[in-house]
Amino acid sequence: MRNCKIIQSLITVLCLVNTVAAQESLKIESAITCKECHEEIYDEWVNSQHARSTPLKNTLFANVYRLSQEDTQGQTKLYCIRCHAPVSQINGDVDLKKDITNEGVTCDVCHTITNLTNHPNNWPNMYEPGLVKQGPSKDTEAVGHKVVFSPLFENSRLCSGCHGDMLDIPGTRSCGNLTICDTDFEWQSTVQAVEGKSCVNCHMTRGPDQIAIKEKKSHFRHDFSGAYSPVMLQKAVDLTLDIKEFEGEIIANLEVLNVGAAHLVPTGPPARMAFIKITALDQAETVVWTNFIENPVKEDPFGVFHIVFANIAGKVPSMPWLASRIVKDTRLRPGETRRLVYKFPASGVKKVTVKLLYRLAPSALLDRFEITDETLKTAYRMAQVEAFTLSQ
Ligand code: HEC
Ligand code: HEC
Ligand code: HEC
Ligand code: HEC
Ligand code: HEC
Repeated sequence: MRNCKIIQSLITVLCLVNTVAAQESLKIESAITCKECHEEIYDEWVNSQHARSTPLKNTLFANVYRLSQEDTQGQTKLYCIRCHAPVSQINGDVDLKKDITNEGVTCDVCHTITNLTNHPNNWPNMYEPGLVKQGPSKDTEAVGHKVVFSPLFENSRLCSGCHGDMLDIPGTRSCGNLTICDTDFEWQSTVQAVEGKSCVNCHMTRGPDQIAIKEKKSHFRHDFSGAYSPVMLQKAVDLTLDIKEFEGEIIANLEVLNVGAAHLVPTGPPARMAFIKITALDQAETVVWTNFIENPVKEDPFGVFHIVFANIAGKVPSMPWLASRIVKDTRLRPGETRRLVYKFPASGVKKVTVKLLYRLAPSALLDRFEITDETLKTAYRMAQVEAFTLSQ
């Protein structure tokens, strides 16, 4: 009996030692560790939005996150950080106090995802942190850590856990019927997806050779360029413009084509917006007509591509966490050609210029948060086209 107890406590002690050891090896490693051997990949990643996804690193997110918690009595606190500070899911640091948690979507987050669960409204990423890294190659030998091939890397399934369905934000009254954003779903039935072009093909274009401990090998760029990259924005949309004069008016036929993004434009957070700016100029390049002076949403709603929600009391616009229905969704579908017609007096017009502009967040929202960061305040040019009149 006594011996049995001793053995039992020995087992307990051994188990404790084992648990501590297991916890130790279950740690997410810092990107700084990886930098030692994967320097170029580190340099790309550290300048990407993935490295700026937590409140500490991203003012826009910090403000929106705080507001969402105020509006929902803290219900969104854990919800938002499962994607924006995913390390908190593993180390329990939900107050985001540790440096490692503030690395955001760090190397080990992606490279230790072993599986995705199939519950659409649950957190899908399953992590197995430790010295085994999940990767795309079937025959790679690493140094200092092991690598295993993961099929999640073959077709961008890896991205879907965070860029997929965002249903049921705590606070919304939509009973799970309202998709806030779902880039993964938007992509699935596109021509590009059918041809085998996945997220990685456009967002991780091959970079120069890198050296992991002097072993030369070309790698996939880890800068994950998206809407924060003016170059990427210019790849998404084509414009065509045809102008005719009829009975003293100019009729401008405009086509807006989503040719380069295998998902909606804009995709992702509902704060994003693209809009048409059309100006008619005379001989001296003076503007004689334009589609809006101050606010395109009010003055030319058909020329604006965005999603708008209403809350349960019918207030428009509504923040996503209070939304109960979609009021309008004018985002450009993948492959879509949107046709718009503008008419204005022909008198004096020599040239017509059309720009498609892009905002990461509406000015009103930035003003509300007193954000003055130029990156966020700029309206980026996605595409431009012009045409000249014959008569003047
Ligand atoms: C001591 C050097 C060293 C460190 C530190 C290191 N790696 Fe590696 N790693 C290598 C080498 C060598 C390779 C094989 C050559 C290559 O793929 O570049 C490799 C390969 C990989 C691969 C490729 C797997 C594949 O399928 O191609 C991944 C993923 C990876 N490492 C992730 C990481 C992560 C994440 C960290 C930090 C937590 C890290 N490594 C830290 C040396 C290192
Ligand atoms: C958002 C997810 C994500 C993050 C964050 C991430 N990676 Fe990767 N990594 C990938 C994907 C996807 C691939 C495979 C690309 C392919 O082969 O299609 C990859 C490939 C690799 C490879 C193999 C070489 C190559 O490019 O094919 C290495 C090594 C690697 N990553 C290391 C790192 C390191 C180091 C970091 C952090 C500095 C990091 N990764 C951050 C998703 C990620
Ligand atoms: C054919 C190329 C292509 C493919 C495939 C593609 N994208 Fe994109 N993506 C783009 C372009 C171009 C942009 C810039 C225009 C924009 O923001 O709408 C973009 C923008 C983005 C953005 C930034 C949006 C924002 O508002 O910040 C994200 C996130 C994104 N893509 C994720 C994905 C994911 C996830 C997949 C796979 C499910 C994917 N993309 C597949 C071309 C592509
Ligand atoms: C663990 C969650 C997670 C995973 C996995 C993940 N992402 Fe992201 N991604 C994010 C978050 C969060 C942001 C927003 C960061 C910010 O701006 O605050 C983001 C932003 C982006 C952007 C926008 C960058 C910009 O300039 O606007 C692109 C593009 C992107 N991710 C591509 C990918 C691709 C491709 C994959 C798969 C290889 C992937 N992501 C996997 C969480 C993730
Ligand atoms: C399922 C994963 C997921 C959840 C949950 C999530 N987000 Fe995001 N969020 C993303 C991704 C991925 C992006 C980047 C997408 C893109 O750029 O298209 C993003 C982008 C953003 C941005 C824009 C950041 C920037 O740098 O421009 C804000 C703001 C934001 N999210 C707020 C929130 C808030 C607030 C919550 C909680 C109510 C939340 N998110 C919950 C995945 C998520």
